[in-house]
Amino acid sequence: MWFNVRVESGDIMNVLVTGGLGFIGSHTCVELLCAGYDVVIMDNLYNAKIEVKDYIEKITGKRVRYYEDDVCDPIAVQKVFDENAIDAVIHFAGYKAVGESVSKPLKYYKNNLISTLVLCEEMKRRGCRNFVFSSSATVYGDPQRIPIDEECRLGPTTNPYGSTKLFIEQILKDLHTSDPDWNIALLRYFNPIGAHESGLIGEEPSGIPNNLMPYIVKVANRELPFLHVFGDDYDTHDGTGVRDYIHVVDLAKGHVCALHKLEHTHVGVGAYNLGTGNGYSVLDIVKAFEKTNQIEIPYQIDPRRPGDIAVCYADPDKAYQELGFKAEKTLEDMVRDSWNFLQKKN
Ligand code: WQD
Repeated sequence: MWFNVRVESGDIMNVLVTGGLGFIGSHTCVELLCAGYDVVIMDNLYNAKIEVKDYIEKITGKRVRYYEDDVCDPIAVQKVFDENAIDAVIHFAGYKAVGESVSKPLKYYKNNLISTLVLCEEMKRRGCRNFVFSSSATVYGDPQRIPIDEECRLGPTTNPYGSTKLFIEQILKDLHTSDPDWNIALLRYFNPIGAHESGLIGEEPSGIPNNLMPYIVKVANRELPFLHVFGDDYDTHDGTGVRDYIHVVDLAKGHVCALHKLEHTHVGVGAYNLGTGNGYSVLDIVKAFEKTNQIEIPYQIDPRRPGDIAVCYADPDKAYQELGFKAEKTLEDMVRDSWNFLQKKN
């Protein structure tokens, strides 16, 4: 098992992490540093706080190089490559609010696509072709089959956010076709939740959360009166929506496994589901949170949320066979660590 990947004297030492102060990016920076990589972060703080850099350094006892810049800015990206010998890039930077993408599609297409194009052009110019892309299970649209494997049909996507992920995957496949030296991992996340056990880094959505777990945490903290359960008439064991929740620390470790793979194998372009293979319903999550944290989560059943699918969970086998990645944290870990993060913040 490559789980505790350690850097040998490979040819990837310096990793540029765009969006590295965000929820998944910051957890990935921690795991990269712990695995012995050097980390350079670009983050314009659109959806992150500068103190996360200090927390990454406090958790790991290591320093990171940080640029408060926009990946859409070619001058800023050139500067990062001028000042650092980048061996690989993990690209998280991008807008990710599904609902907002429906009301502001141009904002999402412009930011998510241009940032990727600027980055890839600079990488090509510098001969840096190891690329890990933050993709999403949303590229499968309404899944062809469950559990979802990587050979499932892609699309049609159900929102502009998901379309940006699908389009970027296509851009990267075309890039590889034009130049087979590119070495690309497309990591398709399922539902990342939880937080680092230190409670220093975690998920901090601004305003009213769209996603389930941050909403539950605000209800637990009595910032919101109750949870709206979007539909209890799905064809699932309790009628509520089923998803593949994966601990963000496991997800972060999956990126280290992917980088290790690129370092030792010419993958070309490989797509990998990063999930647990387990599906939990909304009410399963609520009950696990209540039991683990001994806090009641009042809820009411509301109509289904437009665009939601009933069931979505991964077949995680390809990531295990090819990356040596297997999620290890339990649902109890996820709900405990989510709550611990908010308590430590207060
Ligand atoms: C999970 C379940 C809801 C909130 C989204 C993006 C996806 C990915 C992960 C980036 C569903 C129910 C939710 C609430 C609820 N993000 N729910 N009440 O929609 O599966 O996936 O986040 O890659 O691209 O689409 O996650 O957390 O919003 O919903 O009942 O207040 O919880 O109906 O069944 P989702 P979610």
